[in-house]
Amino acid sequence: MCGIVGYIGSHQAAPVILEGLSKLEYRGYDSAGMAVFNGEKIQIQKSVGRLKVLEELTHGGATMPGTVGIGHTRWATHGAPSDENAHPHYNQEETIAVVHNGIIENYLPLREKLLSKGYQFVSDTDTEVLAHLIDYYYKGNPLEAITKVMHRVQGSYALGIIFSEHPDQIFAVRKDSPLIVGQNENGCFIASDVPAVLKYTRKVYFIENQEVVRLRVDHMHFYTVDEEEIQKEPVTIDWDADAAEKGGYEHFMLKEMYEQPKTVTDTLLPRIKDNDIVIEELGMSDEEINAIRKIFIVACGSAYHAGVTAKYVIEGIARIPVEVDLASEFRYRNPIFEEGTMVVVISQSGETADSLAALRESQKLGHKVLGIVNVVGSSIAREADNVMYTWAGPEIAVATTKAYSAQLIALYLLAMKFGKVRGKLDADAFHSMLKDLKRLPGQIERLLANKQRIQRFANRYIGAKDVFFIGRGIDYAISMEGSLKLKEISYIHSEAYAAGELKHGTISLIEEGTLVAAVATQDALFQKTLSNMVEVKARGAFVLAVTNEGNTEIEKAADYCIYIPRTNPYFANSLAIIPLQLFGYYVAVGKGCDVDKPRNLAKSVTVE
Ligand code: F6R
Repeated sequence: MCGIVGYIGSHQAAPVILEGLSKLEYRGYDSAGMAVFNGEKIQIQKSVGRLKVLEELTHGGATMPGTVGIGHTRWATHGAPSDENAHPHYNQEETIAVVHNGIIENYLPLREKLLSKGYQFVSDTDTEVLAHLIDYYYKGNPLEAITKVMHRVQGSYALGIIFSEHPDQIFAVRKDSPLIVGQNENGCFIASDVPAVLKYTRKVYFIENQEVVRLRVDHMHFYTVDEEEIQKEPVTIDWDADAAEKGGYEHFMLKEMYEQPKTVTDTLLPRIKDNDIVIEELGMSDEEINAIRKIFIVACGSAYHAGVTAKYVIEGIARIPVEVDLASEFRYRNPIFEEGTMVVVISQSGETADSLAALRESQKLGHKVLGIVNVVGSSIAREADNVMYTWAGPEIAVATTKAYSAQLIALYLLAMKFGKVRGKLDADAFHSMLKDLKRLPGQIERLLANKQRIQRFANRYIGAKDVFFIGRGIDYAISMEGSLKLKEISYIHSEAYAAGELKHGTISLIEEGTLVAAVATQDALFQKTLSNMVEVKARGAFVLAVTNEGNTEIEKAADYCIYIPRTNPYFANSLAIIPLQLFGYYVAVGKGCDVDKPRNLAKSVTVE
């Protein structure tokens, strides 16, 4: 979602801001803008479209001289993508400029009030309300005005604010939308995410909810919403700036798919000690694990799909009932929590608004939450009672691949740990599963090496209108993720169906040549899925099958087969998803889509 960058220092601000915004493009946006104080006044330039439009408009920032500025990439919520609605927004006298990520929920009554006081609005955004409201409360002291606004507004916000009367300062404010600040010898920075400042500094401060930062050229001061000064410790970012670069790959998505063997290894190996699974971060004794009666897994999108897989795996291995919920549903459905209910929230970004709300809702009702999170220091990581990190490193492509693979590993580990402690998994089965887990990185590598075959097949489907993914059990969960990968980046309509459910209505959509991708990795369900493949083939479908090596019987019903190495059936998702990710990727590349930044999508969904 929206990206914020700000700079105050000894260098020109606009090029630093443009550079930083380019590192936040992955978040998804439809317009971009900057505000720079030019020595006399605040100059704003903004434009709908990609960042390069703004770069051209400002000649790489050269037409916006000044050493203090804020910039923004906007993902439209209130008001269409347009020049007027793009940020920054001014107050009426153009002495205050604001960039905002989040949603001001009570913006309508505030707007009414400001209109009645004579303020005029030029955009449809909720953000413009903030610019005027700060103006309304501003009596010469910016901190006072900002904190008054914080007491008045409801919703989520990360803000960058500059005042022409205080050109030696930038203000950064946060509530429920991510924001960090950093410093080096040439100035101070604000940003929505670490990659935007990594070129300049590795020492960053995570701003907490309801905190304000006053940044000057050479120092920063932190305040509470009551204007009390507080001290904060910096965090040193230890991942390499290269981790957030393409490193020779055509797209981040391809690079990240290729990082999956490492991601799986990094998430797995630190938790295997002396042939046992040790998850220190779980913070649960064996008694507590034995006391679990039910698990809620709550997440969105692909993380939800990882959760659907986990339901089969945890129920199968540990025999604990699991309910998997979309976070946007869970938070409003008044779920029944009983004694012994454990809540697991899965999130790559750790900032997804619905997942964060589900976490808070659970905690409010007195239940501990385990976060399975990728971004260190993110909101979910900080607010969860315990955090199990997926060590996938920065994921830049909007469509997740490596973080999803790492989530699966974390969930397998949890299932096995619970299964062992609760006496549902004997030593032989446990050790054979451990062996299979350790083999996964090499097997994923082999599958990735097969990319050209999948690319050739994908090229035949760039004109497809509808694609169906079918499977049973874990294969259904794999189908859900395969389908999402294809549709979100190639814009081809696709649906995942439990294979046995297709004939209850949806099979009527199968026409001559419709592509049906059938996933059949679960031996116990193989014959059943085979029958469903025959059914769709008989109605004209072209059937792509993903199955285990050796299952050549499938060739009776499939037109094209992809074989995956054998593993424990519970881990099949980790392998079967690889060709499906490659398929979605190559269809999108073949169609000329913007693979890393699909239309309308945002990498971290920080609004409801
Ligand atoms: C799809 C994708 C999204 C995310 C979802 C949750 O490729 O990336 O569906 O999985 O928005 O995001 P996180 O995991 O950051 O909570």
